[in-house]
Amino acid sequence: MASTSLTLISSTFFQTEFPTKRTTKHPISCSISKCPFTPNSVTPLKVSVSDKNMTQSLVPVTPVTTLVSDTDTTPSSIPQQPSPQLPKRLPMRRIPGDYGLPFIGAFQDRLDYFYSEGGRDTFFRTKINKYNSTIFRANMPPGPFISSNPNVIVLLDGKSFPILFDNSKVEKRDIFTGTFMPSTELTGGHRILSYLDPTEPKHEQLKSLIFFLLKTRSSHFIPEFQSSYTNLFDTLEKELAKTGKATFSDANDQAAFNYLAKAFFGTDPTETNLKMDAPKIVSKWTLMQLSPILSLGLPKYIQEPLFHTFRLPPILVKKDYQRLYDFFYESSTGPVLDEAVRLGVSKEEAVHNLLFTTCFNSFGGMKIFFPNLLKWIGRGGVNIHRRLAEEIRYVIKSNDGKVSMAAMEQMPLMKSVVYEALRIEPPVPLQYGKAKHDFVIENHENSFQVKEGEMLFGFQPFATKDPKIFDKADEFVGERFMGEGEKLLKHVFWSNGRETEEPTVGNKQCPGKDFVVLFSRLLVVELFLRYDTFSIQVGKSPTGSAVTFTSLKRATF
Ligand code: HEM
Repeated sequence: MASTSLTLISSTFFQTEFPTKRTTKHPISCSISKCPFTPNSVTPLKVSVSDKNMTQSLVPVTPVTTLVSDTDTTPSSIPQQPSPQLPKRLPMRRIPGDYGLPFIGAFQDRLDYFYSEGGRDTFFRTKINKYNSTIFRANMPPGPFISSNPNVIVLLDGKSFPILFDNSKVEKRDIFTGTFMPSTELTGGHRILSYLDPTEPKHEQLKSLIFFLLKTRSSHFIPEFQSSYTNLFDTLEKELAKTGKATFSDANDQAAFNYLAKAFFGTDPTETNLKMDAPKIVSKWTLMQLSPILSLGLPKYIQEPLFHTFRLPPILVKKDYQRLYDFFYESSTGPVLDEAVRLGVSKEEAVHNLLFTTCFNSFGGMKIFFPNLLKWIGRGGVNIHRRLAEEIRYVIKSNDGKVSMAAMEQMPLMKSVVYEALRIEPPVPLQYGKAKHDFVIENHENSFQVKEGEMLFGFQPFATKDPKIFDKADEFVGERFMGEGEKLLKHVFWSNGRETEEPTVGNKQCPGKDFVVLFSRLLVVELFLRYDTFSIQVGKSPTGSAVTFTSLKRATF
């Protein structure tokens, strides 16, 4: 199957030239009845809508060819000829919702987002119910005084969300973290790759550098993972034997950073000046960047003035950042920095980017995703544990005991479980894109006019748990992407693109896409080679889940 084949998994690592174009594989038709791409089969019908508040247009929609007249936002009505080839336009509706009074509206939305009972899920759900729409206007944190314009158009379904991947329609300049951008003082004075739009020449140079790093270091990815995560499991077992429980987060932070440093640069950080300090430094530095949009679990009257209203001064982390920079400068000397110079990037700017990619993108991703992955598998219970252990051990045995990319391709349940965890709780849940020009977006029921310069915001967990696309969308179904289920992978968006598409220097899809799938598969494989089953307790952390092991049952077969 194309989307999960070895060739695809390893394409980023082994390609000789870097891809320059998105490879879109939209289906012409789809066998899944709820798929939004399924052609409508209803007799074309012309309706004329003239509606100022537009609420009554949100009825269960029979697909129609519409003749629309919306006094507020709709462009002039254009009669459409029914044609089997052309997609049918859904009824046009004015985007519901408003931004409230300046400052007050943004402040109110921020409080609701962080402190309403049920958290941000309830914030979004309440607005869906209020407006009877998965697309509406709202303010996103942080708002005053950190972001100058918190007004966004919210997208909460799997059909409208992919507009954020269309670089012909949306600009991705300086919006990696949303409606504000952290100070460049935190990144050596540079606008790092993640903040660059593909139209900026630097984007192609820097993304090529990341592809080069991944390609040239790929042979280290599996052995270094086994070494770092064997240490992690040894540590957890000792802790468990001593105290009856073992916290995953601290051990994972240490293992993840050591792994990335060795896999990307061949350097063991514990043998340098950094010693074991990197995870703490990186967490502090990341907090300086993300504090305006994170909930640290503190009371409102502390969290709001301290973290959500003003930026933390970069000086607080200057010395620590310099330690990281020195480590990355020394570790990346050689082929990677030579390649940077060849691409026209100064060594200094390249090091700040390598640091960011390793610490923010990669370490941050492992810090968020690994506990989530364990949480969902842990909750799956002994039955799925046994099936995973059987599948993984059978394949590894028949592969002479060796873990390889090709062997992992033969593990359909393991692969599906990883994709399902990425679907049900995407590690980077918020995505933004600014409209480059006027265009129309669609959810399952309606069309909406977007104006040039408006900010689109998608909350990904709602898009990848869209009940019109996925059955039992809120449930973790380990087998979801097996067999015919693989067709659903085009609705998995964790990498800022469809799982069936590839990152290129011309788009904003995560260049680590295949590497992330690889290291996540490795975690599951190593876990079930070593243990029959395990049990955990799950709490909350600012970045997602806090996992504590309460048992690890060593492999018996
Ligand atoms: C679980 C792990 C990861 C997740 C969930 C993740 C997710 C994402 C997402 C959602 C974006 C796009 C953000 C946006 O523009 O809105 C992104 C971009 C990016 N990611 Fe990842 N990522 C992960 C790991 C990695 C790794 C391992 C690397 C290192 C190779 C990496 C490097 C990058 C870079 C450089 C960008 C910017 C791409 C560009 O500007 O075209 N990420 N990632």
